[in-house]
Amino acid sequence: MALDNSAPPAGSAGGTPPAAGTPDAPAPGLENLLTEDRRFPPDPAFAAQANAHAELYSWANSARLEFWAEQARSLLDWAEPFQEVLDWSGAPVARWFGDGRLNAAYNAVDRHVAAGHGDRVALHFEGEPGDTRTLTYADLQREVSRAAHALTELGVQTGDRVAIYLPLIPEAVIAMLACARIGAPHSVVFGGFSAEALHTRILDADARVVITADGGYRRGAASALKPTVDEALAKGSGDVVRRVLVVRRTGQDVPWTEGRDVWWHDAVDRAPDTHEPVAVEAEHPLFILYTSGTTGKPKGIFHTTGGYLTQAAWTHLNVFDLKPETDVYWCTADVGWVTGHTYVVYGPLINGATQVIYEGTPDTPHRGRWWEIVQKYGVSILYTAPTAIRTCMKWGEDVPGGFDLSSLRVLGSVGEPINPEAWTWYRRVIGGDRTPVVDTWWQTETGAIMISPLPGVTVAKPGSAQTPLPGIAADVIDDDARSVPNGSGGYLVLTEPWPSMLRGIWGDEQRFRDTYWSRFAGIYFAGDGAKKDEDGDIWLLGRVDDVMNVSGHRLSTTEIESALVSHPSVAEAAVVGATDDTTGQAVVAFVILRGGAAERSPEETATELRAHVAQQIGPIAKPRTILVVPELPKTRSGKIMRRLLRDVAEHRQVGDATTLADSSVMDLIQQGLQKPA
Ligand code: WTA
Repeated sequence: MALDNSAPPAGSAGGTPPAAGTPDAPAPGLENLLTEDRRFPPDPAFAAQANAHAELYSWANSARLEFWAEQARSLLDWAEPFQEVLDWSGAPVARWFGDGRLNAAYNAVDRHVAAGHGDRVALHFEGEPGDTRTLTYADLQREVSRAAHALTELGVQTGDRVAIYLPLIPEAVIAMLACARIGAPHSVVFGGFSAEALHTRILDADARVVITADGGYRRGAASALKPTVDEALAKGSGDVVRRVLVVRRTGQDVPWTEGRDVWWHDAVDRAPDTHEPVAVEAEHPLFILYTSGTTGKPKGIFHTTGGYLTQAAWTHLNVFDLKPETDVYWCTADVGWVTGHTYVVYGPLINGATQVIYEGTPDTPHRGRWWEIVQKYGVSILYTAPTAIRTCMKWGEDVPGGFDLSSLRVLGSVGEPINPEAWTWYRRVIGGDRTPVVDTWWQTETGAIMISPLPGVTVAKPGSAQTPLPGIAADVIDDDARSVPNGSGGYLVLTEPWPSMLRGIWGDEQRFRDTYWSRFAGIYFAGDGAKKDEDGDIWLLGRVDDVMNVSGHRLSTTEIESALVSHPSVAEAAVVGATDDTTGQAVVAFVILRGGAAERSPEETATELRAHVAQQIGPIAKPRTILVVPELPKTRSGKIMRRLLRDVAEHRQVGDATTLADSSVMDLIQQGLQKPA
């Protein structure tokens, strides 16, 4: 069955109205998107050698399922071939290639060795302090096999969940693949998340083993991880976790629980280096990854094996024009995010790519570190986020100008809308005015890239993700689920199932239906506003729900608000995402303090509350600005009007406040704000 977006309008029944402004107005700061008219046609020489070609669109349009079936057959090795392509009878839970069996780690590693590419470098690891390691596909096969044995010895069975809390070191990739090898879904938790966040994720997924490290290097110093795991387990998740496997990375002292904790080098290094991968059903869960939603509780998005790997591999090959024999690919994402899952681990390794992984920050020990890495390894494909690009713009073009970047031939962007200025800077300064730039739209939920230009095919428009990929059906619709005409804005939706779509929210099918499938009946609601230009190309305009995007990381306003009100000094809190030149959006919190706390200095209060949020969620969620206010603007039904607070946070004239229960509140807030903390 196909999703039919010409079906009678579903209205907004069951859905929440958009909270962050109307969908046809761009998020503040993105206005210039819609006046951008520069065009970058493909270079003929690039086009002549490109993996992608225009006929892919017509093929996929006329035979979408056959298109994907052919990709699944040609890009993956199946232990048992599939006959069935898509079963959508259980919508919105799809089954792709459901009667086939395969193993993700076998596809990512072993078959390349079997095909004679064992000596090809899989990972060039660059540690922040400058230490390096090179792992070929043959090395990776041995390491993953050893780790798979070690996990089995620690009691992990096919189907058990394993939590991974590691820095970006080779063991992170090895651990993920070792889990996949035995069919144990991994749940990677970003190393910047707090003990509290780790605790709730361990409990939600019921993870039996945690893989961590003593620490990792960040900003020139060893930063501990193991104590956070201990703290998380002490909060009660220790009842489900039986063993903690610890990689020695920094050599710093670690607290140790005998009988529970085991060193990676003890358990893994002595294990046999050959291992039979477990062929699982195509729909076997490969991983769970938590992401922020519109409520306080993170959602455990889960992906399965066959469809996910198919789209991960196809998009990686075609959107980045990967030539596995000659390219050196580098995606700067951490494996704690979906970009690291699909475009550091699964996509590149399934395709047999040679890639760089870098542990640290872009400015350690100097602001040219990334460009030094590009020069050193001859990186030819670079995939990063607009925030990073804008930060580099701020540092000035002399910094990248000091390095040889001529190896680069494709540049990618992901995570948030890229403003045309950042796009053109990226192409000119980093890409030498020569490389295609692909602005790729997708989400944790979509598993892989959905909307993006194809290099060598698409005439690029700076700031626009442009076109749904072959085999992908996206649209922009209005409140009544009608496709908007070119030149208009609305909600971005996906109108046909796709192979790498999420199969649900772990343990909460109702929430899966409510969040994505009820706003418009039978259509996937992405939560993003978008506009179609006169050619029908798609321009992303930011979230239309209570999700913020800070440096390309999704944060929930509600989650930060609950963290703030869990502090004894805070009576009420409201959080908004305010436009920020570098990070896209920044967290701005408005708080009402309880009695005694109101006497303290706003600076002191703000420092304490920031630390509290870092401890509850993680440093990335720390508000940039905390404003102490006497009241919050609310409608008569008690809903906080974040739109007005956003006006304040962005120093704009406050908009229409007529629906406020008490219209003097905004004056009170404005008067009290001479001194932001
Ligand atoms: C935003 C990251 C505009 C969007 C892969 C989406 C983008 C959310 C783009 C998903 C882009 C991602 N242009 N916005 N190219 N890419 N987004 O789950 O709001 O961390 O819904 O996945 O990031 O974030 P997530």
